[in-house]
Amino acid sequence: MLVSPRSLPERFSAFSVPDRPLAPLTTWGIGGVARLFLTPRNETELAEAVLFLENEGERFHVLGGGSNLLINDGTIETPVLYTAALNKIHVTVESGEISLACGSGMNLKKIFVLSLDEAWSGLEFLAGIPGTVGGALMGNAGTKEGAIAERVTSVRTIEADGVPHDWSGNDLDWGYRRSPFSGGASVITSAVFSLKQSERGQVLERVNRVLSMRKSQPCGVKTAGCVFKNPQGESAGRLLDRAGCKGLSVGGAVVSGQHANFFENRGNATAKDMTELTRMCGKRVYDTFGVELELEIKTMGFEEPFPLR
Ligand code: EPU
Repeated sequence: MLVSPRSLPERFSAFSVPDRPLAPLTTWGIGGVARLFLTPRNETELAEAVLFLENEGERFHVLGGGSNLLINDGTIETPVLYTAALNKIHVTVESGEISLACGSGMNLKKIFVLSLDEAWSGLEFLAGIPGTVGGALMGNAGTKEGAIAERVTSVRTIEADGVPHDWSGNDLDWGYRRSPFSGGASVITSAVFSLKQSERGQVLERVNRVLSMRKSQPCGVKTAGCVFKNPQGESAGRLLDRAGCKGLSVGGAVVSGQHANFFENRGNATAKDMTELTRMCGKRVYDTFGVELELEIKTMGFEEPFPLR
């Protein structure tokens, strides 16, 4: 059943709008319009929204920083819950151990810069990773230097019944770019990261090591990070490159000439362009190497599962 923006409880009008364009909220700059767009300003409003939608039998999408996401063209009928306003941060320091409690909408860059300023060690691998805490946790974002789950001591979610639940980091089953929360009904509201007091020089050294690995990646252009996950023991970028994908294009969607696992929006690429390019490249790798690549990017507003061949 589709909840109409007009059928929302009156109090929701303070944090919901109809027909919100989504493309500006993604790093690719691609996507249509959300029929119903909710930006809860705190955990209570988020819980109310989740409970209301669940009671109406309505599914919903959660949108964070839009940095690893392909949103379909046209109208996105399923309501979108935007986490940007859940961006509070609370720091506790106890004998050199730092606990950083962050709202799920908190920008990763902000917590990266804060830890760099304070010489806190533990989040150096975030250098250059865009997005929000919630989005990064949903994809267990990271680099070869580490992934976000390794630093998380607890995660707080709102469950389908609108009730918050605190999960201990150790009890959660994370994997390579895989989160225990994906596919479920939980919405992440905040997370606590555990860091250590260090020295600025040492933190900077680790940050520079991460940044030097990123030199092979396109910068200052519209991408969504790596499109495909790395298959076990291989690099998707290398396979895409060897299969001749660099420079392939569909409309305004182009495979980067610098790193083949980054696809650029060079103008007015549509989701249809990006989808076709993704499919074309997945097929090339399969035809050349017999390897079936898996999407790393998340999708919104497409038929599930997203067809790759
Ligand atoms: N390579 C090529 N051609 C390419 C791209 C890569 O030959 O077009 C080769 C490189 O020369 C290198 C190997 O493939 O020998 C691995 O490439 P790279 O070091 O760039 O790492 P990657 O496996 O492609 C992973 C993560 C990146 C992360 C980097 C650095 C995935 C899917 N990608 O890339 O994460 O920044 O390591 O740590 O896990 C992301 O997940 O969105 C992402 C950007």
